[in-house]
Amino acid sequence: MNILIAGASRGLGCSLAEVALKEGHTVVAGVRNRNRISEQLKELNENYGTRLQLIQLDVSDEDSVEQAAKHVAEHFLSLDIILNNAAILLGRERKIEDVDFQELEQSLDTNLLGPMRVVKHFLPLLRQGSKSFIANISSEAGAVSKEHDNDYPYGLSKAALNKFTMQLHHYLLSDGIGVCSIHPGWMHTDMGGNQAPLNPAISAKGILDIMTGKTTVNSPYQFVNYEGKPMNI
Ligand SMILES: NC(=O)c1ccc[n+]([C@@H]2O[C@H](COP(=O)([O-])OP(=O)(O)OC[C@H]3O[C@@H](n4cnc5c(N)ncnc54)[C@H](OP(=O)(O)O)[C@@H]3O)[C@@H](O)[C@H]2O)c1
Repeated sequence: MNILIAGASRGLGCSLAEVALKEGHTVVAGVRNRNRISEQLKELNENYGTRLQLIQLDVSDEDSVEQAAKHVAEHFLSLDIILNNAAILLGRERKIEDVDFQELEQSLDTNLLGPMRVVKHFLPLLRQGSKSFIANISSEAGAVSKEHDNDYPYGLSKAALNKFTMQLHHYLLSDGIGVCSIHPGWMHTDMGGNQAPLNPAISAKGILDIMTGKTTVNSPYQFVNYEGKPMNI
């Protein structure tokens, strides 16, 4: 399968690239800045030749997303999976009295509008693929039912992303394109920190199994964790 990963420079996105490559897929790794990628991605780039293509992709910049889609259309013709993984985590501890609207705007721009830009420009390529699937990497922090203090920028952006998933799911149902939101678990990455219990490679394997149909999604809200278990919204 041809898999696009938005936000593949490090963390879960890079682990997703590694697991997909090991399973024989072709990966288009979208990175903001090709000069600032992790050692892990550099190594994959050296080892996997043309099965791994790095492209410049800043999800907060529509021109960048549009150019990336044109590039992929010229070189691949089709995509089977879009993985919206890129996200930022800002201002988690601020109370409503201290909310910084710049942090909120940046978070919505990357975590919600980013996936929307990617789907807008890459959907024509996905329509050419087979058993196509869109996975929006979300978070339990976006569940309305979960009690959270504060966490406005990130929590609200992921809650809205879950709504976007449902909208897309209904829109693309008759085209046979699957869509879901996935909570990847608390992973030790730059975002999750060193205390996190989960290895991103384990989460990546679970996510890939969902997207390739090895694990079936059975959730009224199209929201599951990395093991495919339904999540509440
Ligand atoms: N870690 C956790 O415990 C946890 C828990 C729940 C959900 N999640 C979700 O899982 C996903 C991956 O998280 P992670 O832990 O791997 O995060 P991370 O280590 O902070 O990595 C974030 C990735 O997103 C990329 N990114 C950010 N803004 C971007 C933009 N405008 N355009 C393109 N790429 C951009 C980063 O690229 P640069 O290198 O260029 O910055 C990086 O590759 C996210 O959606 C996150 O919300 C994580």
